[in-house]
Amino acid sequence: MRMPDDGPPSKKFRYTVQHRSTYDGNNGYVPEKLQQERRNLPIYPAKGKIINQIQRLDTAILIGETGSGKTTQIPQYLLEANVNKNAIIAITQPRRVAAITISQRVAEEQGTELGQRVGYCVRFEDVTSENTKIKYMTDGMLLREAILDPLMKRYSIVILDEAHERTIHTDVLFGVVKQAQARRKSRGIRPLKILVMSATMDVDHFSAYFNAAPVLYLEGRQYPVQVYYAPEPQSDYTFSSIVTLFQIHRVEPPNKDILMFLTGQEEIESAVRTIRDITRSAEENMAPLIVCPLYAALPSYAQLKVFKPTPRGCRKVIVATNIAETSVTIQGIKFVIDSGVVKAKVFNPNSGLDLLKVVKVSKAQALQRTGRAGRESAGSCYRLYTEQEFEHFSDNTVPEIQRCNLSSVVLQLLALGISDIINFDFMDKPSTESIIAAVHQLHNLGAVVKEISIKLTPVGRQMAAFPLEPRLSKTLLIAKENNCLEEILTIVSLLSVDSVLVTPQSKREEALAARQKFVSSEGDHIMLLNIYKGYKAVKGSKEWCMENFINQRNMKTATEVRKQLYDICERMEFPRKSCGNDTATIRKCLAHGFFMNAAELQKDSSEYTSLSSRKTVSIHPSSVLFRCKPAYVIYNELIQTTKCYMRDLCVVDPDWLYEAAPIYFKRKKPGT
Ligand code: CDP
Ligand code: MG
Repeated sequence: MRMPDDGPPSKKFRYTVQHRSTYDGNNGYVPEKLQQERRNLPIYPAKGKIINQIQRLDTAILIGETGSGKTTQIPQYLLEANVNKNAIIAITQPRRVAAITISQRVAEEQGTELGQRVGYCVRFEDVTSENTKIKYMTDGMLLREAILDPLMKRYSIVILDEAHERTIHTDVLFGVVKQAQARRKSRGIRPLKILVMSATMDVDHFSAYFNAAPVLYLEGRQYPVQVYYAPEPQSDYTFSSIVTLFQIHRVEPPNKDILMFLTGQEEIESAVRTIRDITRSAEENMAPLIVCPLYAALPSYAQLKVFKPTPRGCRKVIVATNIAETSVTIQGIKFVIDSGVVKAKVFNPNSGLDLLKVVKVSKAQALQRTGRAGRESAGSCYRLYTEQEFEHFSDNTVPEIQRCNLSSVVLQLLALGISDIINFDFMDKPSTESIIAAVHQLHNLGAVVKEISIKLTPVGRQMAAFPLEPRLSKTLLIAKENNCLEEILTIVSLLSVDSVLVTPQSKREEALAARQKFVSSEGDHIMLLNIYKGYKAVKGSKEWCMENFINQRNMKTATEVRKQLYDICERMEFPRKSCGNDTATIRKCLAHGFFMNAAELQKDSSEYTSLSSRKTVSIHPSSVLFRCKPAYVIYNELIQTTKCYMRDLCVVDPDWLYEAAPIYFKRKKPGT
């Protein structure tokens, strides 16, 4: 389906425009090719109608297939027609990568420098200015802003994008923007328009929630996709994916790209290595294969590779997490290989355990994945599960709010002045048990008191000021009391970024040897601190990072995060104190913040038992404590693979745990 366009601009026009500077605010130069691409998007013919409708409505829901142009075009259309009345248009994204890459693209389409008319704002990074009118931001950031300004006064339009993903922050935002809209109306403040954009058709639910808001349907572009099921259940989906990939690659002509869905960074990097190894050793005369990983934590320069057109005679294979399901659009895909699994957070309110584990996708997700093969012409999708297995997938993905630890969100809602959490206007309510579990956790951390209603304590209010999960922000407050804010700030910052350790498979021994000088028998947190000290001592030298197998980019990000956290501490007048080499104090602070994540060594075994839920857990092989058996540890997170592993550990004294929460441990004093 071809779209009508406005025809090419006259030669004269093109000539004049090209003599302007590339970026000059309002009249930036936009290459004709980009303008043409915009006009070719499926959304373009509906432009006038969409603007009219949104002009008229307070709230609307827009449904359109992935790739139709919702995320990149709608904000620009609204700006061009000044529907925003000179105020800012906010567009939320569940993922920071999407917020960043999309704002880059839109800035280009507008011919302005990123951070000028078009900008983005994600945790620890704000690329906007007073000129910014289109602001891409993570849903988490908008929620955070709402704490300071619950009426969201600086925005005239809020677009909640990728609503079908139902992330916990988007779900809470549904209620928060709805409330802001109503309050602004009743107080006669400039109206707030809400636009909910989604790629799937679960619209009745959205519409009902937003007081029967009208639904605008976009005609998408979808060609038929042939679906192939596995004849029998597959025991190793990574292996099956790679086998399928090479079966396709052998027989299909080049330049038909492949999109493969796996679950997480480590798995994807390992699959990418295997694919590259096979390609190198292949005897047959196969077309060159360009292998690109794609996951949220990947640095942006590496992500851009995914979007580059494939050279003639080659084939590109993108090995991605569910990020490629709907939030980023990649051209040229003809084949999809769907493992049928996704990594998801699962929370058990009874045990208080928050686990990251691989689970089956929903039917809706499987359909989205399949659809990616048919955006430009007919394609094929290879499902690595049987048709019978597919029939047993759940219809829709369970909203994150119904399967996650809610302590961060409850803390934020309380900071927003919403104390009756159980009766908050959720689109889908989380279970009462998980709300209660979250309140308990916050109570254990001293963040709330339970009187007639639940109230934030002064400690809780301070915790909410940090863009961190409650356990980490509490640890910072404890560090202030114990004069080791400098050290804990460093550790918290390093835990908030992607791993700074680089361990290439081919140079594993060398990397481990280089790391030896930082290793601490007290655990991973202290090792991170040692690395940071080493890095600062050489002023962040690139050579030092290379020699020591440290990721310089992540180190820089951590330094930036640290500075921002420090600024918050400064505003709250926390004294900047260091405890020098007194690592026991540092570990004590960690124990006081993370006592709910403590485990003790089982007798005559190398396994541990978590103190909160009495579950058997093990030390992750990546930990410096992997070969040690300290009696008590605290951990940063649990991940479930073949076993339930604790990641990022610190050796602690059981007395510290007891001191931290005598009531919590009253049933069983650690160490007795
Ligand atoms: O939001 P939706 O899935 O409807 O589409 P979009 O994200 O607005 O993308 C529309 C088109 O913009 C894609 O098909 C790509 O051609 C292009 N695009 C791009 O080239 N680079 C980006 N970073 C984002 C979008
Ligand atoms: Mg989109």
